[in-house]
Amino acid sequence: MKRIILRLKTGRYPVFVGRGLIASLSEILSLEGFSKIMVVSDSSVHELFGEVVTQSISKGKAEICEFIVEPGEGSKTIDKAIQITEALVKKTFTRSDAIIALGGGVVGDLAGFVASIYKRGINLIHIPTTLMAQVDSAIGGKTGVDLPEGKNLVGTFYHPQSVVCDIDVLSTLPERQFLSGLAEVIKYFLLRPGAFNGDLLSLASRILKREAEILERVVFCCASIKARIVEADERDEGIRAILNYGHTLGHALEAATGYSGIYTHGEAISIGMMFAALTGVSLCLSEPELPERQSRIISSFGLPVKPLDPIPDFQVLLKHILQDKKSKGTVTMVFLKKEGEPVVRGDIECETLSQSFDDLLDLF
Ligand SMILES: NC(=O)c1ccc[n+]([C@@H]2O[C@H](COP(=O)([O-])OP(=O)(O)OC[C@H]3O[C@@H](n4cnc5c(N)ncnc54)[C@H](O)[C@@H]3O)[C@@H](O)[C@H]2O)c1
Ligand SMILES: [Zn+2]
Repeated sequence: MKRIILRLKTGRYPVFVGRGLIASLSEILSLEGFSKIMVVSDSSVHELFGEVVTQSISKGKAEICEFIVEPGEGSKTIDKAIQITEALVKKTFTRSDAIIALGGGVVGDLAGFVASIYKRGINLIHIPTTLMAQVDSAIGGKTGVDLPEGKNLVGTFYHPQSVVCDIDVLSTLPERQFLSGLAEVIKYFLLRPGAFNGDLLSLASRILKREAEILERVVFCCASIKARIVEADERDEGIRAILNYGHTLGHALEAATGYSGIYTHGEAISIGMMFAALTGVSLCLSEPELPERQSRIISSFGLPVKPLDPIPDFQVLLKHILQDKKSKGTVTMVFLKKEGEPVVRGDIECETLSQSFDDLLDLF
């Protein structure tokens, strides 16, 4: 087992990365101080890992209860957060008790949000079970729920006590979910290639076969990159923006298709990274060869490089780009001069974006 320590202004906490961890939670974590623990999970994850986790934490003396939600984004609501809060009240949870978020980013964001508001903050442990959650959402303290008006409109910054990334749980992930997480892995590689020991492309076939040893290295590497960026910019006011590489068009594609699953998040940001590279080249910010190199990596992992049919109308996408909470009225985007050299630029003209979208459709 490897360990990354996140050092924040308000404290520090470990991210554990290894195999078989969910069966040894009492040994890894200090659970003695909790008299009650609520495990929040979705029904699919609960069916797969609920019992192992409950058994593994029941070696302590805490009373354990569970709150299970439906799988999917539809559970990330204020209503669900209130229901969990009410369950905590009913079970007389105090601030020194704990919530364990067992699941993907949906469960992590929802349970993290509840942990941050219940009695002004209760202990939280993340056990992320998707690749996306292990390399991204469980690290960094962002919690939140959606409103009918948009995603993540209500949320907090709230860090857990620990994050436990068990590589073994990734073996049951549906292929499309796994690939979706790989898009974030590719993003980290493009942002910080030096942090990976070797070229990501040369590892592609072993990653796609989900070889545990390689996945452990990859998750550790990505989680470390995210940890260092979060330490430098806890509240997303500066350098953390680079993590949005590919997300300008990516978020717009997801929003324009109503989060219907036409695009997974990873598929959308794969296309978004190509869009950013092409825009970067057209603005002479990026090396002319970057789109080609990037597309080779993205395609090697079975992810798309351009929008799928039916091609969304660019004006609709633009409306979403301009509405994105990160775009303060003008379009702010992350570019790469080349791999490892991100640059954030504001005031990108809509006309430039429209031209790049045409270039994207013409790609290869
Ligand atoms: N807080 C952050 O910083 C942050 C960052 C990125 C994304 N997010 C949020 O994360 C959410 C997406 O998270 P996600 O991609 O993990 O999706 P998810 O939580 O919806 O999980 C995807 C699906 O995989 C299933 N699943 C999870 N683990 C499994 C496993 N080990 N085996 C089999 N099935 C499993 C789930 O039941 C679900 O159906 C979005 O709501 C997004 O806004 C948050
Ligand atoms: Zn993302």
